[in-house]
Amino acid sequence: MKIPFIKNFIAGREMEYIKAAVEANHLQGDGRFAAECNALLEKITGARCALIVSSCTSGLELAALLADVKPRDEVIVPSFTFVSTASAFALRGAKIKWCDIREDTLNMDEQFLKGIASESTKIIAPVHYAGVVCDMASIMETAQKHSSLVIEDAAQGMMSYLDGRHAGSFGQMASLSFHGTKNVVCGEGGAILINDERFIDRAYILREKGTNRRQFINGQVDKYTWVDLGGSFVASEIAAAFLLGQLEYAEEITKARLEVCAAYRRALEPLEAAGRFKLGRVPEGCRENGHIFYMLMNTPDDASKMLSLLKGAGIGACQHYAPLHLSPMGIKLAGGNPVRLPVSESVAKRIVRLPVYPQMTPAEIDYVVGEVEKF
Ligand SMILES: Cc1ncc(COP(=O)(O)O)c(C=O)c1O
Repeated sequence: MKIPFIKNFIAGREMEYIKAAVEANHLQGDGRFAAECNALLEKITGARCALIVSSCTSGLELAALLADVKPRDEVIVPSFTFVSTASAFALRGAKIKWCDIREDTLNMDEQFLKGIASESTKIIAPVHYAGVVCDMASIMETAQKHSSLVIEDAAQGMMSYLDGRHAGSFGQMASLSFHGTKNVVCGEGGAILINDERFIDRAYILREKGTNRRQFINGQVDKYTWVDLGGSFVASEIAAAFLLGQLEYAEEITKARLEVCAAYRRALEPLEAAGRFKLGRVPEGCRENGHIFYMLMNTPDDASKMLSLLKGAGIGACQHYAPLHLSPMGIKLAGGNPVRLPVSESVAKRIVRLPVYPQMTPAEIDYVVGEVEKF
């Protein structure tokens, strides 16, 4: 049996919507489908303003611009994350301070954060790993203590909740990803979520190359002009059309993924109890979204063996991030003297992620579990 790590899932109306966008003769951004995606995202996430953008990375870069990050401003980022969480701020010249993660959720360690945050901390950028929301009460408290802003990297957080609040609704701003590998997709895409009123008007300008194009479209000015420094962050209407088809089905997609993860968990818990590996923990009050199912092996050697066993059986299992503080760019940013982050460094070598997709069959799940059991 061949089991890929992910499989495209088409909810049903994506092609019909793309056809409608083409027929409406509006392929650039901000058409009917973008407006519907934004409205639906605001409804689901509770954000004051949601704007779809070309990727989660561009959403983070836009958030960094809106937060006015300047050279040498301090930004705290977990090292166990995708490049974009750090590069969005490093691009503006920020000084990146690395935070370690918790071994039970692989999320930013809020106690570690308390130890490194200070009056110089301009931004804290937590990542909701595997769609498990970080301990936001603690992170927000630390941010408030030091008057820092919180920009959530909610790339993996679509349909994830903590105490009834959606990922990305805690900080001043957040960014979601609809990259082809995520739960709800449009190829390349994302959304900036803005919860702090102060940033909304400027977001409309900065995402449109620093122009007041929106005022022109709304009939408020005769022609639009360059009014601020911005970039090209707007998502195309083709991506928005596809995305709407997926967003309308987000609850069902999430439910199906959660069922796959629950089946894995039920089958693998006895092995966890026998001390073979640890499974990720979902803290009280968290509703995860089934984005990632992982095992944390006891040693890097166990992880290599497990990966080659699964690969040999045709199963697309894989590891995840190489810690950014030890990447060539991370070391360069640290002036050649990287910090040590024991949990991030250890976890990166021991994690093994199993395939998850909504249409995964019980036979496919059994096959994966059977191969894991062989280990
Ligand atoms: C935590 C995290 N942040 C950011 C990104 C970047 O997302 P995008 O490809 O939509 O820019 C990813 C993508 O995998 C991610 O996992």
